[in-house]
Amino acid sequence: MRNCKIYRDQGVIENCYLIFDDGFITEMGIEHNMKQNFDEKYDARGRLLLPGIIDAHTHLRDQELRYKEDFLTGTSSAVLGGVTTLIDMPNNVPPTDSPQRLKDRMKCAKGKILANVGFACYPSTELGVNRRMIEEGAIAFKIFTYNFMSGDRIERTSLGRVLKAIAPLKKRLMVHCGPKITYDLVLSSLRSKKYFKLCKLEVQAVKQVISLASMYKPLLHICHISCPSTLKLLKSLKRMLNITCEVTVHHMLLTKKVIEKRGVIAHVDPPLKGLKSSKELLRLFASCDVDIVVSDHAPHALEEKICKYPKPGFPNLQLMMPLLLTQVNKGLFTLSTLLDKASARPAKIFGISKRGLIEVGFRADVVEVDLKRKIKVRSDMLVSKGKYTPFEGMTLQGFPMRTFVNGMCVVDEGFVVGKGHEGAILRGPVESVVSNG
Ligand code: DOR
Ligand code: ZN
Ligand code: ZN
Repeated sequence: MRNCKIYRDQGVIENCYLIFDDGFITEMGIEHNMKQNFDEKYDARGRLLLPGIIDAHTHLRDQELRYKEDFLTGTSSAVLGGVTTLIDMPNNVPPTDSPQRLKDRMKCAKGKILANVGFACYPSTELGVNRRMIEEGAIAFKIFTYNFMSGDRIERTSLGRVLKAIAPLKKRLMVHCGPKITYDLVLSSLRSKKYFKLCKLEVQAVKQVISLASMYKPLLHICHISCPSTLKLLKSLKRMLNITCEVTVHHMLLTKKVIEKRGVIAHVDPPLKGLKSSKELLRLFASCDVDIVVSDHAPHALEEKICKYPKPGFPNLQLMMPLLLTQVNKGLFTLSTLLDKASARPAKIFGISKRGLIEVGFRADVVEVDLKRKIKVRSDMLVSKGKYTPFEGMTLQGFPMRTFVNGMCVVDEGFVVGKGHEGAILRGPVESVVSNG
């Protein structure tokens, strides 16, 4: 790759070159210092090269849910959106909840992924089973507090058993904190002007999880924080208890107004909040209160959205880099914040080695972006099986033109050219003690 810009030490360096060999970046520098005679295949024509996004929260579906999305369509969406590595959530059919099921899911993904994929598993109450899932390559664990709730309280004994059975293993436990929030509850909260109560539910769930976790000390990762009050609660506890957390692009960039306008299409759990909340999340994004940004890509069939009990979630992967670069272009956060929260930190938190940075010795997962290119989002441009998005109509500026995964070009001039053998199945390290500092 020649004639590219690289962002380094808070500044852009022009006229750079990179050499990929066997999936790794083996050499990089400024062109006039380049040793001649390498096989020059790609000319970036002065465009900026960024490390691929590592998206730690996605629902790739496939297997019995392939009518919603499959590994090919999900990872094609990813690479178009500049995402080169992702972590898949276990709430699939069948769920990823045992060593054998993890093995089956990995087998199903093989040869069908254009991006690297790591798998999160549901933890068992048995330490030995959890250890075997890690040995099979589980990259994290994931739970939904609503599976441990009776009424509006989390059942301490059953959740406690799980925490006890994973704490010694030092793998991150991703937690969706809150009761299940139906579309009916969202609508009635909107109508009765009790919308603020939704944040109380999130804060309450996080409090209960942390109070239990302080007994067993697992490595916690709080998913999709949608309320500034939750970030405030976490502020002092994060460091003390080695807790990490994420925000989604939609909670930072959209508001409940989109629900009023677009209805079920914008339904997601946790639901979108008001303008004050989203602005505050966006403001805090650059601070250490927020560790990483994720897509929570969660496509459903359109019939499952437009119905009496609409499913929460929408496909986001394809818009990730454009949504984030648009904010950089607007000056809402810096490129350095983007690189940190979308690539470098997720790699560190989840123990993904040699990815998340453009460095010699790192994997060649890089994205060539056109920072000027503007596109108005239309649902029919999505390659996900879910052809709808609450970002419809928004004009975004900054698009991936080429994406490389393990040194192989999977998106060329904005078109998917990868076949599915390019992505690697990530196996988390068996012993990973990762701090949040
Ligand atoms: O909006 C959501 N969609 N929230 C969840 O917790 C689950 C997810 C899904 O899998 O559809
Ligand atoms: Zn969730
Ligand atoms: Zn999710």
